[in-house]
Formats: sequence, structure tokens, C-alpha cells
Amino acid sequence: MTIPTPTSNSLPGPVETPQGLPDVAALTQLAAQFFAAAPAAAGGTPEIPAAAHLPSNPVPGNPQPAGFSPGPLANGPALPGAFAPGANAAPSTPQDGAAVLASTPSLAPKAAAVNGLPDHATTVPPALNGRFGGHALGVPQVSPRAAPSPTAAHGAEGGSPFYFLADAAPYAPQSRAPDVPREDLVSASSFGLPGADDLKALLAGKHSTKAPARAETPAQPTRGAFDVHAVRRDFPVLQERVNGRQLVWFDNAATTQKPRQVIDRISYFYAHENSNIHRAAHELAARATDAYEKARETVRRFINAPSVNEVIFTRGTTEAINLVAKSWGAKHIGQGDEIIVSNLEHHANIVPWQQLAWAVGAKIKVIPVDDDGQVILSEYQRLLGPKVKLVSVTQVSNALGTVVPVKEIVDLAHRNGSKALVDGAQSISHMRVDVQDIGADFFVFSGHKIFGPTGIGALWTKAEVLDDMPPWQGGGNMIEDVTFERTRFQPAPNKFEAGTGNIADAVGLGAALEYVEDWGIENIGRYEHELLDYATHLLRPIKGVRLVGTARDKASVLSFTLDGYTTHEVGVALNEEGIAVRTGHHCAQPILRRFGLETTVRPSLAFYNTTDEVDRFIQVVKRLSSAPR
Ligand code: ALA
Repeated sequence: MTIPTPTSNSLPGPVETPQGLPDVAALTQLAAQFFAAAPAAAGGTPEIPAAAHLPSNPVPGNPQPAGFSPGPLANGPALPGAFAPGANAAPSTPQDGAAVLASTPSLAPKAAAVNGLPDHATTVPPALNGRFGGHALGVPQVSPRAAPSPTAAHGAEGGSPFYFLADAAPYAPQSRAPDVPREDLVSASSFGLPGADDLKALLAGKHSTKAPARAETPAQPTRGAFDVHAVRRDFPVLQERVNGRQLVWFDNAATTQKPRQVIDRISYFYAHENSNIHRAAHELAARATDAYEKARETVRRFINAPSVNEVIFTRGTTEAINLVAKSWGAKHIGQGDEIIVSNLEHHANIVPWQQLAWAVGAKIKVIPVDDDGQVILSEYQRLLGPKVKLVSVTQVSNALGTVVPVKEIVDLAHRNGSKALVDGAQSISHMRVDVQDIGADFFVFSGHKIFGPTGIGALWTKAEVLDDMPPWQGGGNMIEDVTFERTRFQPAPNKFEAGTGNIADAVGLGAALEYVEDWGIENIGRYEHELLDYATHLLRPIKGVRLVGTARDKASVLSFTLDGYTTHEVGVALNEEGIAVRTGHHCAQPILRRFGLETTVRPSLAFYNTTDEVDRFIQVVKRLSSAPR
């Protein structure tokens, strides 16, 4: 292998190592010389170009955003000791030469240097980068077009609707890749390795930077165009093998799998944008803030909320309900008041209300369900009365799959003068959610149930209700001004987002929602409905099967028991064939007990599942059924 040789003051000539391997000592010396020769290192404090300074008001509608003071920096003086964009390519700690060269593409500044330091001092083909990153790890390579420009600060007038990166092209997701393998073929790209085209391009001396921009108008496949195999190609994990069989993921109600669009987006965030948000006068804070706030806007659009300021990021549905209970609930629910939930609820929509009720002396009332698992609306109406302050119901039951008529429930609650919360954890990935149409005061959901990351979700609250909610957690990011005597809070949403949030996963959630938008939620719902019908018709007649939850309107879930087997035994038998289902109480003990059960087997479907997978599942249940122990 030929590597450069250091000479005193210039870039070096080649050195051949006996084994054809890099001479690490020579590389180290080379790197030290190279960076020592950089003008920035030679002295002088670089000035940050005015355009690179942050605007004084990075959060819309917040005159003084949390943690950010519009002090003297707003007008753009030089920061003593700061690096200009592009000036920080030299590593701050010693590294050996191989590591320095291998990492050079990442160290290369994304903005043009203002100090004469060449931006592309050394390049290696990204896929052969010593860190084995780039496409090999699914991290898209940045095309120059995608690199934020240093002249692009000061927000909204340029291309960006956000705060900092006016004419910078933000992350440009790849839509559906045409060259990934068929679902059941093992290939290089199944393992995240470069595909044939990548290798050809590398051998031809150029790397293919496949980063096609998001289609201007996202494709909305029609019913005929919905192609489950194309969907499956986006989900790398579906090519896993479990016990020698291709994985069948039927545990979607517990969590969904992630498309590479989400995986890539999160990788891209950490590779190119990672920073805390809102509170620093540097480029990456701008990128991270834009990405985070763009994700908030995507959530708003996805649920059709009237304002982005009504969307609060939380860890998920559970945290969102706890937030409402501990903020709005603690203020508005008191001694003798009543909270209505349904018998279908997940523990996350029971326990926070119990905790509140115990604390203030309120009561929980429960809407019963019929033998099919549907709520009985006439009983609900009987429960309503002047003491009911809140009705909190799920839109889809996680244990039975029942679709609950939330619009009617919310309407009746409002006529009663009560507020209403809808738990969308299980509905969000299966049906169109329009919070204005549903009309509730609160809507909550989790990102990981809709092909996004775990640890991120959202609470939407009507503006007038939000205005009447005190903050629940205190700390950084949510304050406007703090003295030892008092604190002034930010307006929503910041007021409810104390501390450093899950920034990267919020961005990943935005990517997941865009992915669903690209396929079209109606197309997804229609396909899943047909698949659920198909599975139900095959499962129900099997001898010994008891299907639990037979409401006319259902989504995704088939809960059942099988005579002669514990639910755990059925789960283990399915796992032996590579089929993942949840067995147990599904965090919804009251509804299983309504049916005299402690546990069920619960396959739950998503739009990447197929009739072939259902057939494999049915085969196992039939085999068990015909040979009871
Ligand atoms: N709520 C999740 C489930 O239903 C964990 O399995």
C-alpha cells in the first residue's frame, strides 16, 4: 500500500511499507505536521462570519427561549477563542495517524473554512473509511448540496421554515430504494454492506452518493400500487432468521420494527447534527434545533393539530398521560370528582388516574364492554354526571384490538362539561388520526408503535386547555428567567419539556411519520384490515381456539387461548418457528379478567406482514391443536 511520507513543511511523498500496510508512525507524524501547518493553528482568533450567528429568537413565539439569552452575541461579534466553521479539523487530542486519516471525512468541515484551511485535505472512499461507516453502516454520505452553508443563518426568509439554516438543504431522505434485495434473498445489502452498484462505483474510482432527495410530492400509492414486498424491503430486521426460519414479526402492538429511513435518519443526526438544542451559538445547535422542531411540525401535520405549539414531546404515551394527570389533573380534579375510563384501558391509562384519585380523593368509574369487547355506550351515558371532570379512553384496545368510537365518547363528555383524553398508542399506526375531528382535549401516542424509536412520543393538547396547565417537571429548557425567589416559565411547548429531551429520537419519529405519509395511512389501514380478516377466518375455526375480542370494528390484534396449552407454551412453539407474538396480560389485566383470563396469546399485525406469514402462524396453531398434550 502506498501512503504519503511526511516532509518538513509540505505534504509528503509516498512510503511503501514492507507488508503493504500503513506505517502508523509515519501517518501519525504526517497528521501532526499537516495540522500544525494549518493557518488556524498558527495563531489569530478567527471571527465567526455574521451570517453564522444565531438569531436572537430561535423559538417561534417565544421572546426569550429557554436557555438562550439574546445578549450581545445576537449581533455577531467574534467569540474569543472560538473556532470559525471549518477551523476545527485538527483533533483536540492526540490520535494515531491511521485513525486521523480514517476519520478525515468526518472531520472535514461542513462549512467552508474562512481561514484558508483546505476543506478536503485528505479523502478516502467513504465505504472504505477505517471506521467502516458510510453506507456500510447505513449512514448516508453527505453530498455538498446537503451541507448547510455558513452563509445561511437567520431563518425563515430562505428555504427553511425554521430558525437557523435559511438556505441550507437539510437531511434529504432516500425514499424507497430500487436496488435492495427481495425480502427473502440474502445479499450484501441485507447485512448493510455495499451493494453491487456501490462496489462497481468504488472500483471505477467514484463513490455513488445515493441520496436522492425526498420526492417533491410524496408518492401516495393507490390501493393497486400498495406493494407489501416493497414495504418489507425497507425493514432490514424482517430479514433476520430466528431458529433457522425467517422472522415473522407479529408483536407489533408491543413495538413496531423500524424502516431504514428511520434508522438512517437517526444515524445521520448523530453523524452530522448532534447537539443540544436552543441554547448555543454554534452551527450544530442550529442543525439539531431545526431537525427537532421540524419533527414537531411533522407530528402536528400528521395528527392535524392546529398549532405546533400544542405538540409536546414526551417519552411516550405513558409519560404523556402522567403529564396530564400531574399537571391538568392535579389542578382541576379534586375531592369527590370523577374520572371515567373504559374497561379496555392499558395500565398506562388507569394507574396515573388512580394515583391522582388517591391523592385528591376522587373516584374512578369504568365503562363496561360487551362480550365482543366493545364499550357499551348506553352504560357510559349513565356514568356521566356533574362530578365527572375527565373521560380518558383508548382509541384501539391493545389487548383485544377493539376500535372504540372515541368521537362519540368525546362528544358526550363535552356535552357533560367534562374534558376528554384519547390514548392513540394503538391507533396511530392503523388509521387516520385527526385531533380536530376527534375533538378531544388531549391526544397521546408513542413513536415506537408507529415505526419510530422507543423513548419518544407526543402529547397534543388544545391551546386553551394547555394555557391552564402548570408545568409538571422543573429544570432547564422550560424557564424564561430564574432567581432564587421566583421562576418565570416558557410558554408551551417548552414549559412541559424540562431538561434535555430525546432529540435524536424525536427526529427519528419525524422520519417515521413521513415514511407512513409516503405510503398513505388509508392504504396501510385497508391492507391491514384485509390481513386481519384473513387471519381471523383461519384462526377462529381451529379446534380449541378461543378468540378474545370479536368486535365488528377491530385493528391489528388477534388475542386467543388454545385448549390444552398455556399461552406461554403457544408463544414458545411459535418462536421455535421464528414467529414472534406476545403472550401474557399485555399490561391490560382488567380487560382480560373481564373475560375470565389472566393471559392470552396475542399476534398483532402491521402493514409489512403478509398472508404467507399468517399461513405459517396458522400451521403452528393447527399442529398444536391436533396434538394436545
Ligand atoms: N403496550 C404494549 C403492549 O400492548 C407494551 O404490548
